[in-house]
Parts: sequence; C-alpha cells; structure tokens
Amino acid sequence: MSTTTDDVDTKKPTEIFRLDYKPLDLIVSKINMDFNIRDGKTIVESEMFIEKNPKLLENDWDPNAIHDLVLDGDETSITLLEVTLDGKVLKEGDDYALDSTKLIIKNPPSGSLLKTRVSIVPEDNTQLSGLYQSSGPMYCTQCEAMGFRRITYYPDRPDNMAVFERIRLEADKENYPILLSNGNLLEEGDVVDTEDGRHYAIWSDPYPKPSYLFAIVAGKLGKISDSYTTSPSGRKVDLNIYSDPKDAHKLQYAMTSLKNSMDWDQTRYGLEYDLDLYNIVAVDSFNMGAMENKGLNVFNTAYVLADPETATDSDYERVEAVIGHEYFHNWTGNRVTCRDWFQLTLKEGLTVFRDQEFSGDMNSAAVKRIEGVQMLRASQFAQDAGPMSHSIRPNSYISMDNFYTATVYNKGAEIIRMYQTLVGVDGFRKGMDLYFERHDGSAVTCDEFLSAMSDANNIDLSQFSNWYSTPGTPIVTYEHSYSSDTKKWTLTLTQSSESTLGPLHIPISIGLLDKTSGEEVLSTTVLNLKEETQVFEFDDIDRDVIPSLLRGFSAPIKLIPADGASVDEKALAYLAARDTDGFNKWESTQALSTSLIFQVMNDSDDSVELLGDDAFYSSKTWTYVQEAFERTLENYDSNDYSILAYALTLPSQGSLTELIDTGDDVDPIAIHTARGNVKKSLARKFQIQLKKRYDSLTDDGDVEFKVDSTSIGRRLLRNVCLQYLCSISTTEEEQTIAAALAKNHYETATCMTDKVSALNCLASMDGSAAASVVNDRDEIIQRFYEEANGDALVLDKWFAIQAMADLPDILDRVKALKEHPDFTLKNPNRCRSLIGGFTANPGGFHAANGDGYKFVRSVLEELDPINASVSSRLSSSLITWKKYNFESRGKLMKNELEELSKLTPISDDLFEIVSKGLN
Ligand code: ARG
Ligand code: ZN
Repeated sequence: MSTTTDDVDTKKPTEIFRLDYKPLDLIVSKINMDFNIRDGKTIVESEMFIEKNPKLLENDWDPNAIHDLVLDGDETSITLLEVTLDGKVLKEGDDYALDSTKLIIKNPPSGSLLKTRVSIVPEDNTQLSGLYQSSGPMYCTQCEAMGFRRITYYPDRPDNMAVFERIRLEADKENYPILLSNGNLLEEGDVVDTEDGRHYAIWSDPYPKPSYLFAIVAGKLGKISDSYTTSPSGRKVDLNIYSDPKDAHKLQYAMTSLKNSMDWDQTRYGLEYDLDLYNIVAVDSFNMGAMENKGLNVFNTAYVLADPETATDSDYERVEAVIGHEYFHNWTGNRVTCRDWFQLTLKEGLTVFRDQEFSGDMNSAAVKRIEGVQMLRASQFAQDAGPMSHSIRPNSYISMDNFYTATVYNKGAEIIRMYQTLVGVDGFRKGMDLYFERHDGSAVTCDEFLSAMSDANNIDLSQFSNWYSTPGTPIVTYEHSYSSDTKKWTLTLTQSSESTLGPLHIPISIGLLDKTSGEEVLSTTVLNLKEETQVFEFDDIDRDVIPSLLRGFSAPIKLIPADGASVDEKALAYLAARDTDGFNKWESTQALSTSLIFQVMNDSDDSVELLGDDAFYSSKTWTYVQEAFERTLENYDSNDYSILAYALTLPSQGSLTELIDTGDDVDPIAIHTARGNVKKSLARKFQIQLKKRYDSLTDDGDVEFKVDSTSIGRRLLRNVCLQYLCSISTTEEEQTIAAALAKNHYETATCMTDKVSALNCLASMDGSAAASVVNDRDEIIQRFYEEANGDALVLDKWFAIQAMADLPDILDRVKALKEHPDFTLKNPNRCRSLIGGFTANPGGFHAANGDGYKFVRSVLEELDPINASVSSRLSSSLITWKKYNFESRGKLMKNELEELSKLTPISDDLFEIVSKGLN
C-alpha cells in the first residue's frame, strides 16, 4: 500500500493483494473514545495506547529502525483537529504526515499515548458506512469492513485487536435518550455545568476486538427485554431488542429466535455467550442484512421486524436465520476473527453454514437444504460464470465491500459443509473445539481452520485446501455400468475445474436403489474423488441399480453425464418417485422440468400453451414431468407441505440461466416464455386437481396465525396452486376467473404471505382479453398501498412486486414508481426493491431495445455519489453481457457499462465492478 500523497489528485483506485500481507510494527492495544454528538457536527476524541506488535517475531523488529504508526482515515468523512503524543501537540510535516487516506505518526515509541480530535458530520453520510443518521432520527454505525476509518484515524484492519475500554457518548437527552455501545454499561447520567438537556453514557468492552466490530447507537428507541441463563456457566444475560418505538410490537419473533440461537449453539457446539448483556438495534437505512458488533448487533429492520400483518413467511424465516447468523458470529468471527479481509470466508462461510444448520434443526433440514441450493445456483453459480468470479479466498480487491458475495458466503458455507461430510458431524465438532482451543482471542487465516479440522481428525486435507484458491464451478461427469456376471457396479467420475494446483478433493455422496423394487441396495456413502478421473467399483451388487448421485448436494459442482450424453430421464423419473434421499428426490423433479423447459425453448413453438402441440404432449419428458407433478399434487398423505410445494415449483429463471449450455447465446425472454408455457401446460392439464388441492388447503387453514413448518408449508403449497391457476389466462373468461380468484385470495387473506401472493398474481395481469381485470389489478395495488399505512417494509414489497410484474409497459411503470413520493435512492431497501426488482424482471430489464439497461445505467449514475455500496451491487446486473448474443443484447449491455466507466467521479466500488465487467 502506498503511503505517499502523490496520487491524491488522480485518485486512481489501488488494488490490494492477499500475498502482500505484512503484520503491523506498531499496534493500538487499548483505546478510549469520546463522542460529542451535536446536530450537524460530532466531535470524536480518541486516546490510543501504542505498542510494539506483540505478534512480531524477534527478527521482525529492528530496534534501531524507524517504526511509523500508520493510521487509516478517510478524508471525505473526517477532519483532523488535533494530534498529541504523550501530551505534546504534534505538527504536520515534522511529527506526522497526512494524506487523503492516512495519518502517519513518525516513529512513536512503544508505550506512548496518542490522542486525536476529529470532527465528522453523520447527517451528511449517505454512504451508510461509519457513523450516520438513520430515520427516527437516530445515529448508528456500520464499521465492517472499513467504516471505522470514517469515524477516526486508526489502524483499521482486523489484525489490530484492542480493548475498547471507555467509550463515552454524549448527546441531547430528549431526542437521543438511548446511548449504546459494545460491552457493558459503566456509567450514565446528565451532563452538568454545560448547556441544559445533555446526557452521557460510558461503555466498556472487556474483549479485545478489531475496529470493524465497534458500534455506537444514539436515538429515541422502543424495546423489548428478556433474559437468558447460559449453560453450564449459569451466566444471566440481559437481552434487549430496540427499534423505532412504533415497531416495538414486531420484535417478539426476533427475541424468540435469539434465545433459540443461544440454546442451539450451546447444545451443538458447547458455545456460551460471554457478556452479561446482548443488545440488538433495528435501523431503517442499512447497506446489508445485519452486523455482529460485539454485544451490540445492528440490524436492517427487514431482518428483525416480523408480525403477521407485515411479514411474509420468508421474512420470518430470514429473521430467524439472520438473528442466528449474527449471534453465531460471537464465536465464529468475534472471539476468533480474520487476520486480513481476504480471509473473510473464515468467519462468513463458517457462520452461514452454522445458521443453515440452525434453521434446518429449527424447521426442516430437507427444506432448508433445497432453499440453500436454489440460492447457491441462482446467485453463486451466476457469479462464478461471470467476470466477478473469484475463489472463496480472493487474491485481490479494490473495494472490499465488493467481496461480501454469494461466493465468500454461500460457496464458503458449502466448503465448510464438505468438511463435515468428510469427517462426520462428530469429527467436525472435534475440529471446531480444537479451532477455539488454539485460536480464541486471535485473528487467524483459513489455513488455521483447515489445520484444526485436519489435526483433530487425523486426516490429510492438503488437497482439500485447493478449494480455497479455485474460482468457478467445477464440473464432474459420470458414467456407470453394471455387470450381472461379476455382480460389479462401476462408476467413473471425471472432474474439471479452474484449479491451478491439480485436481480438487470432492466428496460425492451416493446411494443405490434396486431398479425394480426401489429398495436401497447401498445407503448413503461418501466417495472421495481426488483424481482427475477415478473409477469406483462396488462388488456384490446382485441386481441392477439406479444410482442416486451427489446426495444432499454434497459438493458445489455441476454434475453431468459423460461425453455429452443426455441425462437418463427414465432414471430421473424413477428417482423423483422413489429416492430415499429427500434432496435428490426434489432434484430429480427439477432436472426433468429443466429438460422439458429447454426442449420447449428450442422448439420455440408457442402453440404448446393451448394444448395443441402433439410433439410436446407425446414426448417422454412431458410424460415424466406430469407424472411426477400429479403424484405430488395428489399426495394427500404427506404433511410435508413445503417439500410438496417445492417439488411442484419449476426451476427459477436464475437457475435455468446457469444450467443453459449455449455459451454466449442465452435469451432471457425465451427462457422466461418457455418456463411460462410449461407452467401453463401443467396448470391446464391439472386445473381441477389444483383447484381441489387449493380449496382443501383453504379449508384446513389455521384459525390462528402460526409460523411453524406445517403452517408455513400449507400456505406455500396453497400459494403455488394459486400461481398455477392464475397462469391460465388466455381467453376473456379465463382472465376474469383468474383475477377473481386472486382478488378473493387477497380479500380473504389473514397474513402478509397470502396478500403478497395474491398481489404477485394480479400485478402481472394485463387484461389483454378482459379489460375488467385491469380494474381488479389496479384496485388491489391501490389497496395494498393504503393498507401498508406507511409501513416501510410493506411499501418495499409494494415497490418490488410491481417492479417484477410481467407487463408490456413495465419500464414506464418502474420509471413512474421511481418518481413516487415514497421512493428514495437514499434508503437501500427501497432502492433494492424497485431497482433491484426491475433488474430481476426478464421482460423489463432485458427488453430487446436495450431501454431497460439504459434506465438502470442512468439510475446508477444518480445513485453512485449517494451510496457506492448499493450502486456497485446493482451494477452487477450489467456485467453478464458476455452470456448474451453480442449483436442483440450483449452489445447493448456493454455500451451501458462503457457509459458508466466514464462517470466522474466514480466510486472505487463501482469502478471495480464496471472495469471487471468490461475486461
Ligand atoms: N458481517 C456482516 C454479516 O455477514 C456483514 C457486513 C457487511 N458489510 C459490508 N459493508 N459489506 O453478518
Ligand atoms: Zn456474517
């Protein structure tokens, strides 16, 4: 990293490399801070205790050399007022150097005390990184990854662990009665001897931590409180969840989830909470989901507020998962943290894995696995196939914020899951125990996690470590044969990946089913694929079998038949009916539907929808798909409603896009149309059964709203039926019936899940054959808005649903919504709802004339100066242009990226995505 001032004016973004890591010479080992919060100006004073880095080895420190103390600071956010060292005021030039990103104190002695005074303006901080103002108004912080340098000058890197011993906050008492920071409250009171109405609080966190885990909050907040006694220690922990007072009645589900998380981590990993206080604060304006600051989590309201009137079942599930996620970080992230940001997956991959296991245990493991894999395929596989492809431990970054990705998080979680598959649940626990025993209280690398797993289980994981450096989705091909003479079943697997260190170690879980009886001949067994091509032989197999491969999705790969052979659909149909592995049973239904959708797409004969295409209806694939569909729909014995619902749901646009094999010629509208046609064909064929199932689920409805798996599954299945039924909408009569059904669904809804589902169906009704439908649609859109009654999270849904509607004039609608008085680019949730929603709308975003791309580019130009983190995230919608035919869409998308690259000034975040997108 350069420490000179010469590139200030040109401001060329610097790329940081993983292999350049160097430990600090001098660190801050302890810090006290004072925040004097006033409208329009906050003064921050810091006292930092400087020490020779205790982690340095003897010969890393030359006692005669000059050791400068390098403090990070972002001049766009902070103004330096004064620096003193051991009581002496320092002079710029003589004693310190200052540039746009650094304050360098020249050769301070180890043991010295450095004080700084800076001013910041949280009210102007639209980037929502550092200290900023959210609605309320309230003040809050977001310091990960590099927000602390927007608050004060500091070694803002995770390997500088310091005790934040005394954090004093002072603010106006009436407007900001609640003052919070990490750790324990030491003291609070009114400020005397100054002007009236000010008060203060002093906080102290005994656990050394990196600056990214620092947090403060000041505001007028409502809360709910509870307590939890840890086991076996018996520590009584006070639990508080704060929000805007008007939302405090929506905090109970989060509190229950928190207590469940605390239980789960004790039971599953023997991990207890370590402070007497656990605070969570919900804020309206937040760039990401939530943040695990020690003892003071800050949450996006979308991931903590939940009640039946405003939250859907998926919202409830997300609240539980994210509350768990941030809680689990207390050990995997806070007690043991990352040495540098390239190691981010050390805490994020591991913590996502832990939250997935938690959700699976709380609800249904099979459902959670299906949802996890759907998400991985739709977003992570897509990332791996594009210009932002990176390994879970990246090699370089310009803006670290760009690497909080599906790859680091979700593929990272898959890598952790593979450890567990390889060493077993008990072996994994042993590895975790050893990891904490060795590294509690320190900042480490992914290699150290691997060593703990390997040493605790006496297993060689050196080849497995290649996963950390390999970008892209590996492909494994399979081929199998059976000989009744030798009673031998043989499986040949061949892997290819972007690994530069030789083949990967890939765990492939398989099972074998008797070809006629369906009986399990071989129960789930893990094969270690370590070579490029490997032959696995199974003796004493006395009858021919159907293999169930990659059970539970045991590795984040694409599994395909060898030599371009097409999949054995007969075998898939068999597995869809009888696989003993729940995940693979579902997977088989998806593979069959995918094959059917691609056939329809390649035929591109629209007549399918009207039940008119003989070739289609006599095809084997259709027969398999509709048999599986009917069996699921007619399965009144199972209470596993979510599993049934997922089996009836066609693969998403996102996963279809990733499965397509045409290289640079993906036609998003053709995929969308083909998927829609298959959906309509199924709906017509099973119209009566769908309606019957819908009605019976209506009758079975809970009297009282519940969020247990059965109730959630029942609503999901009923809403899947509704969507199929509403897709039958060609003739005037059909359109009228569909609209009436959806309208009735809305009017009788007793929870947000059902309202959203009805509105989703109605929002895409264009009334092409029945004009009255448009009135129904617009009436419900208006009613939803009014019933939202200003609730921000409900309005987000209102914007998102309309942005994703399948209507011919969608772009004009989205442009009009952007001018709506409730729309603002300053709130990330609102922005993602409308603009993010639109980028996920194939018909709108990918309109053949390129106007969708143009619109998104113009929004990004407006957004980038306001919030770079959100603009760069949304810009990734444009970087996939190589997937599309260059003469039609590719060129149009690339043009908009080129326009964006000319933006001056451009944020580092957006610059990095756009320039990667153009290369
Ligand atoms: N550590 C947080 C979590 O995963 C995410 C914070 C991301 N912040 C950011 N600016 N990228 O729980
Ligand atoms: Zn996390």
